Amino acid sequence: MRDLSLHILDIAENSIEARAARIEIRLEENSDLGLLILEIIDDGVGMDEEMANRALDPFVTTKTTRRFGLGLPLLDQAARAANGRLTLESKPGGGTRVRAVFELGHIDLKPLGDIAQTLATLIMGHPEVDIIYQHKVDRSKYALDTREIKAQLAGLPIESPEVISVLKKNIKEGLDQLRRENEPRQSH
Ligand SMILES: Nc1ncnc2c1ncn2[C@@H]1O[C@H](COP(=O)(O)OP(=O)(O)OP(=O)(O)O)[C@@H](O)[C@H]1O
Ligand SMILES: [Mg+2]
Repeated sequence: MRDLSLHILDIAENSIEARAARIEIRLEENSDLGLLILEIIDDGVGMDEEMANRALDPFVTTKTTRRFGLGLPLLDQAARAANGRLTLESKPGGGTRVRAVFELGHIDLKPLGDIAQTLATLIMGHPEVDIIYQHKVDRSKYALDTREIKAQLAGLPIESPEVISVLKKNIKEGLDQLRRENEPRQSH
């Protein structure tokens, strides 16, 4: 996978398969710590300890169509390539938290890619699932919550093309703004 947004989509699909009603996606670029932290938290069926321990193994899946599951191992590999790692926290009935940490500025850190497209794809494909996105760059923050958007839409489906295109535009602008706020200041 060429960028992190595609990993995010893939990991969020695990949450969908785990019948999550809510998926939280958090990104934090922290230059004090020198880390990029990605968390994907769901309220799905979760995993027992044994499964959670084995889930990073590429030959472990609960899908019946194939004998390997690559989503988690590939994100783990991407994190390790950037001097980081992946950790999993899960409980049967208690949801799952996937946390991947990367060294900010590492030469092998994959680009974020098209986050707006990833969120749009998730929302279009699973309009009934609540998506909460939070992106921090040092002291600035961008947030999106489909529960709030749905409330404002007054019955207009969130997956309708008009809404999706406005959402994509808003996300892009919000993330551009986040970058601009964190550009190094000119001295004069
Ligand atoms: N959020 C989650 N909630 C519950 N179980 C999960 C979650 N994420 C992963 N799992 C379990 O871990 C297994 C491995 O996940 P992984 O994403 O690596 O592969 P996969 O989803 O099986 O296949 P692929 O991602 O290649 O389509 C899954 O089959 C599932 O049993
Ligand atoms: Mg998967």
